[in-house]
Amino acid sequence: MQKTETKKWQDELEENLSPETVRKRDYPMKKLTTLRIGGPADFYVEPSCTDELRKILSYCAGRGIPFFLLGRGSNLVVRDGGIRGGVCSLRHSFFSQTEVKNGRLLIHAGAGATLRQIAQFAQANALAGLEFMEGIPGSLGGGLRMNAGAYKSSLMDVVESVSVLGLDGVLEEVPGENIQADYRCCTFFENKIALSAVLRAYSGVPEQIRERMTEMRDIRLKTQTQSPSAGCAFKNPPGHSAGRLIDSLGMKGFSVGGAQVSDKHANFLINKNNATSQNILELIQIIQERVLAECGVSLETEVMIVGEDA
Ligand code: EPU
Repeated sequence: MQKTETKKWQDELEENLSPETVRKRDYPMKKLTTLRIGGPADFYVEPSCTDELRKILSYCAGRGIPFFLLGRGSNLVVRDGGIRGGVCSLRHSFFSQTEVKNGRLLIHAGAGATLRQIAQFAQANALAGLEFMEGIPGSLGGGLRMNAGAYKSSLMDVVESVSVLGLDGVLEEVPGENIQADYRCCTFFENKIALSAVLRAYSGVPEQIRERMTEMRDIRLKTQTQSPSAGCAFKNPPGHSAGRLIDSLGMKGFSVGGAQVSDKHANFLINKNNATSQNILELIQIIQERVLAECGVSLETEVMIVGEDA
């Protein structure tokens, strides 16, 4: 699309939005990804309510403008040329509320709430079973999309129901048991936007819940890097640990440009020194080739790779 055409739809979309909706043009995605990498999005928007989200969806669909739903940017590699079209995140406080549902053992959480925020809210309300979410970076919406997990628990294990918006703007409440979820993947959300979810917990003692969260946090700090990364880069292949395989090839510390295999955990690729997306993608490819050639195992990326080359 020509620059003038892009400006035309940017102007038009902007005119349609309420002042409460956050919008930014040509916004560097590196400000929105945990890897701190990524070129500009044509139009970045944080809708202030469901109707605003509907407006954006319908505007983009009506004019053939690509639409990308961003979580908290934690499992994402955005290419250096950025993302054409609209990028939408449900970070607005409207989508980030958490509450105990009907005074029972259920938490109602907005898709924009972070998984850590939900774990802490559960602990404060003496609700156990969601401790594993403490250390998973990202939002509930993004976590559902990829069925995020840690310590042998995955998000979809605790979902009672999800409120979803179809790309046609229709709202629907879907029981968790009707949603097919796999390891680090939930294709159900490919064409549907999770707005909120009801999560199951069980009654617990706040101090004990906090202790479990602290234990998990300590393990994470000991075994995982705190440098900018997109979390684990590869899924664990059946019967293997991706981190152990990469480590067995002596690749910790191996780098391409500013991107490096973490010294702490070989499945984390870090932005060590102003890395480009190209550096990360080359590093991914080299690792995949070496692990296949030397271990006979094919590594599938866990991170989502989007956007255009520079
Ligand atoms: N290991 C090594 N070298 C390494 C890394 C790991 O030898 O560089 C060994 C460990 O010693 C351990 C085994 O590999 O024996 C597994 O490692 P770890 O316990 O760290 O778990 P993981 O399978 O690498 C998974 C999730 C993490 C999650 C942790 C903790 C995947 C791809 N990764 O890591 O999730 O935090 O368990 O539950 O499923 C993520 O998905 O982004 C992520 C970080």
